[in-house]
Amino acid sequence: MVAMPTFHIPVMVEEVIDGLDVRPGGRYVDCTVGAGGHARAILEASAPGGQLLGIDRDPEAIRVAALRLRPFEGSFALVRGNFSEVGAICRQRGFAPVHGLLFDLGISSMQIESAERGFSFQHDAPLDMRMDPSDPLTAADIVNGWSEADLARILWRYGEEPAARRIAAAIVRARPLMTTSQLSRVIEQVAGRGSTRLHPATRAFQALRIAVNRELDVLEAALSQACDLLGSGGRLVVISFHSLEDRIAKSFLRRESADCVCPPGLPECRCGHHSLLRLVGRRARRPSDQEVAANPRARSARLRVAERLLTKEG
Ligand SMILES: C[S@@+](CC[C@H](N)C(=O)[O-])C[C@H]1O[C@@H](n2cnc3c(N)ncnc32)[C@H](O)[C@@H]1O
Repeated sequence: MVAMPTFHIPVMVEEVIDGLDVRPGGRYVDCTVGAGGHARAILEASAPGGQLLGIDRDPEAIRVAALRLRPFEGSFALVRGNFSEVGAICRQRGFAPVHGLLFDLGISSMQIESAERGFSFQHDAPLDMRMDPSDPLTAADIVNGWSEADLARILWRYGEEPAARRIAAAIVRARPLMTTSQLSRVIEQVAGRGSTRLHPATRAFQALRIAVNRELDVLEAALSQACDLLGSGGRLVVISFHSLEDRIAKSFLRRESADCVCPPGLPECRCGHHSLLRLVGRRARRPSDQEVAANPRARSARLRVAERLLTKEG
């Protein structure tokens, strides 16, 4: 018997199916397949004849998604890889053009709850935090090897941690730090418990995870490849949980849905840019109050949708 972990609860499932405009016989790519929750809903809504390619950089996610999607055998394929290569992954498999692509960014509950992977200050474990265990950089490398200034920069930028400088200085003084508990203790000593319900290490752990996995670095390039994979009328859906991620998605979608991206004030257009996308709804969609009550992780989700305009192939 293979152990089945507690599943990650997929967020905004109805909005994803609606945003992707899933139809029977359609072809879809789930760029962050995770535990396969959205993938399963897409396969159900695209039956009969729907096909899905699921990608994840985490081998454990691929293993769990394969179990979860077993009832749809023959209608899906799973690839362990980084969505920064979604264009090549799909073309190598003849999986283009497609009717829709989904990005459900960030981390899954399975990853947070896997104590030994070091994503959470609630479990004592080595400071790892890699989504792909074959990546070279771990959280311990950053905590013990980066300069105080670089540590403060990521704590502030990726964690919006008000005590970024003080925490960075305390980390440098306390080195070496090898476990989540050691790091969490140092942060607690500096940032205290405060008046908010947030644990003082929450922001710093989020910042480290984003830095370890270079989560923001590849997003724009991946969205651009996704756009190229869509057939005319195909849909792109992006769910983000962090303001920087959402800013990248929002500015990419805005730019690619504009016919001119010249700086304001020029007397005539010089950029020669043409829109590839049409925004579906000007604002990001948010989860309903009922969903947030049932799944607090959905609280910060923002979902954006765009549709591909006519491609060269028609
Ligand atoms: C929020 S979870 C997705 C959950 C999934 N939608 C479900 O219904 O179970 C995000 C997943 O994206 C994966 N991921 C994050 N960045 C990635 C990247 N650059 N390439 C491939 N997978 C990535 C993570 O490993 C994680 O499994």
